[in-house]
Amino acid sequence: MKIATLLAAALIAGPAYADTFAEVKISAGKALYEAECRRCHAVDAKDPSYGPPLENVVGRAAGSYPDYDYSIALEASGIVWTPAALRAWMEDNDGFMPGTKMRHVGIEDRTVQDFILAYLSSITTQDNSAISK
Ligand code: HEC
Repeated sequence: MKIATLLAAALIAGPAYADTFAEVKISAGKALYEAECRRCHAVDAKDPSYGPPLENVVGRAAGSYPDYDYSIALEASGIVWTPAALRAWMEDNDGFMPGTKMRHVGIEDRTVQDFILAYLSSITTQDNSAISK
């Protein structure tokens, strides 16, 4: 094959590969979420949820889900759920925020955090940029 043809093929394959990778991350993240988080966190606010629903959580102000009975620690934290904050939370939530009533989860593997983050981003459809600023 000529180099130009190879380049053209790579250009066509490039974005498709990126899409596939993103989809794989989201579906792996969904499976991990089901295993690690779903028993306490509904995704859809219409479903019963022991913890606050995590729909639109990326970029959301902590403790801001309407009518959820948060701990004082979380409600008063003043933080925003940026990807970095969500990583720290998954890694050691009660170390990151002493006084939270979410029991300890210790997801230290960055790849697992990445996948769960990809999934949480995929269920964040609301534009939270005004809060994150
Ligand atoms: C055993 C139940 C339980 C599990 C498992 C659990 N959570 Fe939680 N989560 C809670 C509770 C309860 C709260 C409220 C904590 C508070 O008010 O201090 C919470 C709060 C949160 C918040 C803050 C949301 C907000 O509105 O400010 C995030 C983000 C979160 N959890 C993410 C996760 C993720 C991601 C996982 C899986 C890796 C997970 N949780 C697993 C019970 C759980």
